[in-house]
Amino acid sequence: MTVSTEVLARTAPLYERVRSVIPAIEWPAFADDIDAILRLKRERDAVILAHNYQTPEIFHCVADFVGDSLALARHARSVQAGTIVLAGVVFMAETAKILAPEKTVLIPDVQAGCSLAESITAADVRLLRQSHPGVPIIAYVNTSAAVKAEVDICCTSGNAKSVVESLGAPRVIMLPDEYLARNVAAETNVEVLSWAGHCEVHELFTAAEVRQLREDYPGVVVLAHPECPPDVVAAADFTGSTAAMSGYVEMHSPPRVVLLTECSMSDNVAVEHPSIDFIRPCNLCPHMKRITLSNIRAALERNQHIVEVETSVAERARLAVERMLAL
Ligand code: 13P
Ligand code: SF4
Repeated sequence: MTVSTEVLARTAPLYERVRSVIPAIEWPAFADDIDAILRLKRERDAVILAHNYQTPEIFHCVADFVGDSLALARHARSVQAGTIVLAGVVFMAETAKILAPEKTVLIPDVQAGCSLAESITAADVRLLRQSHPGVPIIAYVNTSAAVKAEVDICCTSGNAKSVVESLGAPRVIMLPDEYLARNVAAETNVEVLSWAGHCEVHELFTAAEVRQLREDYPGVVVLAHPECPPDVVAAADFTGSTAAMSGYVEMHSPPRVVLLTECSMSDNVAVEHPSIDFIRPCNLCPHMKRITLSNIRAALERNQHIVEVETSVAERARLAVERMLAL
């Protein structure tokens, strides 16, 4: 594919931004889509909300707003544009639609799922409610709209502990991520019952890997996402949501750091911190990686794929998400 010199010239300032993580030889493959996406956003009155796990050419070159699940949900409520393209996975696009029902919300690939969201159904939650009468149920945002509609409140990795403690109950159910629930339980006196869902990306990290990293890279600061197994979290120096991990790097500027999370996260943070040595053992999220510049462009050109959430489900799910956002 040949790219015009005009397109290369127009996109050159964007390449300067990401040159430390995208080899020059790859840029022509991205430039045409980036140029078209920037034009289409203006023509379509659209904005792109991108999760921290999106690749750098999406995260740094076409996104209007980037963040963790909590920040994306908050931002969806205040978007002025008529169309939101969610560069992330389906549950994030559904959350945006629930919070901004009057907007057109597009997901570039409808197959961008999540192992956590797929681990539990609305019927499972109704059974849990029956078997644990009176125990409040918290759903991680990594769930379908139908599951959110059955619960009392949502949480994200950025606010899970405060959501648990806000309920004033001695015992809560937090679903579907067993490890997030156990990691939060370790930080609070509230009893946290969990479900057996796991993130297929974070469950792969091990405490032995952390020990090896410390041996191989003396002085390395280890940051872990709370979807990692509890022994990994215990072996890390800091645990937090994707936004909290970038905040940690921003605030402490550790000379050498490893982020135990999805691969693109380190690339995206490294762009802003050229002097930090990022060690990069990471695991890819195949769902996040379904989103590409070319399917974002197709989403804007063809107005696809429109995210719909059935009204009665959306109304109940909105209550659970808004309760969380009100905290
Ligand atoms: P954050 O809310 O921390 O961005 O996490 C979302 C996610 O899917 C992590 O795997
Ligand atoms: Fe789901 Fe894990 Fe991928 Fe996040 S990283 S979207 S939790 S599978």
